[in-house]
Amino acid sequence: GTPDNHVPRDPRLIRLTGVHPFNVEPPLTALYKEGFLTSPELFYVRNHGPVPQVRDEDIPDWEISIEGLVEKPLILNFREVLQKYNQITAPITLVCAGNRRKEQNTVRKSKGFSWGPAGLSTALFTGPMMADILRSAKPLRRAKYVCMEGADKLPNGFYGTSVKLNWAMDPNRGIMLAHKMNGEDLRPDHGRPLRAVVPGQIGGRSVKWLKKLILTDAPSDNWYHINDNRVLPTMVSPEMSALDRKWWTDERYAIYELNVNSVAVYPQHDEEIDLSTAGPTYTVKGYAYAGGGRRITKVEISLDRGKSWRLSEIEYAEDKYRDFDGDLFGGKVDMWWREASFCWSFWSLDVPVADLETSDAILVRAVDEALSAMPRDMYWSVLGMMNNPWFRVAITKEG
Ligand code: MTE
Repeated sequence: GTPDNHVPRDPRLIRLTGVHPFNVEPPLTALYKEGFLTSPELFYVRNHGPVPQVRDEDIPDWEISIEGLVEKPLILNFREVLQKYNQITAPITLVCAGNRRKEQNTVRKSKGFSWGPAGLSTALFTGPMMADILRSAKPLRRAKYVCMEGADKLPNGFYGTSVKLNWAMDPNRGIMLAHKMNGEDLRPDHGRPLRAVVPGQIGGRSVKWLKKLILTDAPSDNWYHINDNRVLPTMVSPEMSALDRKWWTDERYAIYELNVNSVAVYPQHDEEIDLSTAGPTYTVKGYAYAGGGRRITKVEISLDRGKSWRLSEIEYAEDKYRDFDGDLFGGKVDMWWREASFCWSFWSLDVPVADLETSDAILVRAVDEALSAMPRDMYWSVLGMMNNPWFRVAITKEG
């Protein structure tokens, strides 16, 4: 058995590490077929250690403390978090910074395990805005960062990290605490009973099993903040990075907003297309996302190694729910999220089968509204994070 024997799990989830801790991604096609919102049982999981065991009857008394550079340190219990603060519901895509790391490990082994292209999921999260909670503790003027700490006890202390305080206070960034996913109580793997949700940023900032919010004048000194979730310069090798601490303590290399990324779901890498029965066209399709609430503006496909590009159609969650009256899973969905893109979007393009026949690979690239583009070449780094070169599906012919 493992320390997580109390946690129910879906057998469809694909394990990326050994028996423990639990790190899984859903099968890519199953994830895609779910549509914009992912069922909680298929939602990817990234755990650094054991899932804290919380009995149902203890949840109302789950406490979080707001401390550090505040005028009025506070301890709130779960009931107060739900009753005293306005509750927001919004769809948000969480993406692990390791999404697509497998491609990096294939080129050169990094210090992380091999996520395929399904290290992301989307849910409607419900809870208070973090800003409202922080405001009631009256942040001091010197406070610049919010450090968050979870209840999972790990080899190097509790999991913790930080974000800038002015991000947490900005309603457009939508940083919240959540106790529900798709209208149901958070599941143990996803932070039950309470977690932070930081939209548009790497999943690693969305601290689960949240116990503490500490305001500080410097970024978190938590071991996991320093040693995880960074893109170090590409010349830093695993050996160098282990010997020289300076690489890890340089906050410039910490990653927050997601970079633009896109993946083809169809065709799958091993999909067989029978040309004798295929129609005149094949629909290439997949997902794309960008960070910081930026919208994906273009997804393009090349069949000639990047010499020419075809423009795909994009379906946005924000458009899909434009006429939507506000109720989903029994929760009133707040409208602020429509002003930003905190969800993945879906793209598709009908390609003549004849063009696939003469091509050796499908290449996919996306661009966001800041004109950040997926690079042609991989930027390898020691933690293998934020991998976003043009996505490639090789075409081979049989017979
Ligand atoms: N919070 C705690 N307390 N412990 C963790 O191990 N993992 C982080 C983040 N929050 C983690 C955590 C990472 S790296 C990611 S990608 C997300 O949680 C994953 O959230 P999920 O498991 O709900 O998908």
